[in-house]
Amino acid sequence: MAKRRPVIAGNWKMFKTVSEAENYAVSFLEEVKDVTELDIILCAPFTALYPLKNELEESVVHLGAQNMSWADQGAYTGEISAQMLLDVACTYVILGHSERRELFGETDQEIAKKVKKALAAGLTPILCVGENLNVREEGKAAERVQGQVTLALSSLSTEELSRMVIAYEPIWAIGTGKTASSKDAQEMCAAIRNTLTDLMGLNAEKVPILYGGSVKAENIAELLNEPDVDGALVGGASLDPLSFAKLVHNAAAVVARVVGI
Ligand code: PGA
Repeated sequence: MAKRRPVIAGNWKMFKTVSEAENYAVSFLEEVKDVTELDIILCAPFTALYPLKNELEESVVHLGAQNMSWADQGAYTGEISAQMLLDVACTYVILGHSERRELFGETDQEIAKKVKKALAAGLTPILCVGENLNVREEGKAAERVQGQVTLALSSLSTEELSRMVIAYEPIWAIGTGKTASSKDAQEMCAAIRNTLTDLMGLNAEKVPILYGGSVKAENIAELLNEPDVDGALVGGASLDPLSFAKLVHNAAAVVARVVGI
């Protein structure tokens, strides 16, 4: 873990109105304002991004969106462009979350186009990959996830690849309370790094790979102790500002221990 700067990203999904987001930002910032050991990101719904831009300005917390169009602009009813996200000070965007793939039919090809567009615009994509329970039980989890990474990233240059963040999120662990064991998380994050090595050589060592799926303040330290797990994408446990701040502090404590601060 010490090789890369850790990332803790909250994914609020379809929760929080503007006033809820503003209140959250005030309490959360108060708790995490002195955390310097890792990158903290809040991925909020589109309507909360502009108010959060004002709340988070010049703070340690970065702003992210949860989806984005592959098109620049035009007649795409209901879509949001990279420029629109940059305009509200987003620096990250989650792409290919399993809920987008499973509930909204996003394909690997569309996700690849979105990743390319986000990078071209200067946003950092957080590409989500993960297998469902059937695939895991068939023993094909690594193969599935490596395939998703290859399909999303194979047309990118090494320079583009080195600006990526990847999140391994087993679908069976999302919102279920079932976390993958830290050994399983490590095995899959290492498999992803092997695929990245095929695509970009030794530069793969620089790409943060996060684990997501029922991460909480109580299990973040164990996950972060694994060598290829560089952080977490956190859904449910990011919705309360004080519990999420606790998770961030527990993660920062691991970093401080590893680097001997
Ligand atoms: P969870 O969600 O932490 O609620 O399991 C993670 C995610 O979907 O990003």
